[in-house]
Amino acid sequence: MADSYTQLKTRLAAEPHTWLITGVAGFIGSNLLETLLKLNQRVVGLDNFATGHQRNLDEVQTLVTQEQWANFLFVKGDIRNLDDCRRGMQFNPPLPSGEGGGGGKSFPVEYVLHQAALGSVPRSVENPIATNETNISGFLNMLVAARDTRVKRFVYAASSSTYGDHPGLPKVEDKIGKPLSPYAVTKYVNELYADVFARTYGFNTIGLRYFNVFGPRQDPNGAYAAVIPKWIASMIKGEPVYINGDGETSRDFCFIDNVRQINLLAATTENPEAVNQVYNVAVGDRTTLNQLYEQLHLNLLSRYPHLKNAKPVYRDFRAGDVRHSLADISKAATLLGYQPTHRIGEGLKVAMGWYVQHLTQQDKA
Ligand SMILES: NC(=O)c1ccc[n+]([C@@H]2O[C@H](COP(=O)([O-])OP(=O)(O)OC[C@H]3O[C@@H](n4cnc5c(N)ncnc54)[C@H](O)[C@@H]3O)[C@@H](O)[C@H]2O)c1
Repeated sequence: MADSYTQLKTRLAAEPHTWLITGVAGFIGSNLLETLLKLNQRVVGLDNFATGHQRNLDEVQTLVTQEQWANFLFVKGDIRNLDDCRRGMQFNPPLPSGEGGGGGKSFPVEYVLHQAALGSVPRSVENPIATNETNISGFLNMLVAARDTRVKRFVYAASSSTYGDHPGLPKVEDKIGKPLSPYAVTKYVNELYADVFARTYGFNTIGLRYFNVFGPRQDPNGAYAAVIPKWIASMIKGEPVYINGDGETSRDFCFIDNVRQINLLAATTENPEAVNQVYNVAVGDRTTLNQLYEQLHLNLLSRYPHLKNAKPVYRDFRAGDVRHSLADISKAATLLGYQPTHRIGEGLKVAMGWYVQHLTQQDKA
């Protein structure tokens, strides 16, 4: 029998629904957009380009048909503004003449995949107010707008940072410690608000605690870039690769295809026990930074001979970082039918192929 995700994709492809993806111009948001458009869904995308890029949307356009692209409505807006959140709650396509929204038939949003946030632990350590405004006030605006639209489900990006200083491994959803950064506080507050909206308004939410997601379109540039794209970019350009600490810090790296899968399963599950819960989103594999460096180095060496004698540069541990991270994914498997399709090695091959192909163009953009 086909697995839950395969069955779901077949069902969705035959039956268009209306979705809102916030943070649609970002890494995860643009990958979710690609998945939904390929399944012939109607998608509203909301973003203010704080950390996302038009080039991500442009790339999705090249990966879908013209008809599928016509099912996408982009709303430039900021989740810190409640009116912008409300504007995102209707699929209101422009007239073929190009005149503003409202020309075609209008569809209220049924499913929200809320990804917009300011990511990065160090960004939040440097500017906790900015992180708080987007990740908490913006989140609350989105909850209110979605509640008032009576959406069927509000799925949101939570974070493994919520485990904070809890020493247990693997991480199990109901055992969390104290947050170690302002970012972790904001992601935990999201869970508290979602829970209160369920109790107070009978609202349906699911929180996805992502563990170090990676894949195509993840931004390799800037001070707050994630480790995998940053290291791949540095290796390709022949720049030094810095390891914070001794390299024995470990993570459960999760390829983007696993994240696409669980978002769709979470949005559409009809299992009442599965709703108003949070889930770990990872693979259940532990990789140290030293092992990650070896894997990337080995893979890129054949293509880039300048890496022959390259060695990582070790520097201090970074404030706010969790030492080890490894997920127990059995809750998502049992209640949502989540079955990760890509372990780190398989995901890295796809991601590296994409960076090798795109990095030069992206640098110019
Ligand atoms: N990538 C990971 O490993 C990871 C891990 C845990 C949690 N998350 C969470 O997943 C979500 C997506 O992360 P990502 O890696 O795709 O990051 P990203 O920075 O690529 O995407 C975030 C998007 O949100 C948009 N955004 C930011 N502030 C906004 C605002 N005020 N209004 C409207 N749009 C706004 C940005 O422009 C960007 O397009 C975030 O909520 C992040 O905290 C990511």
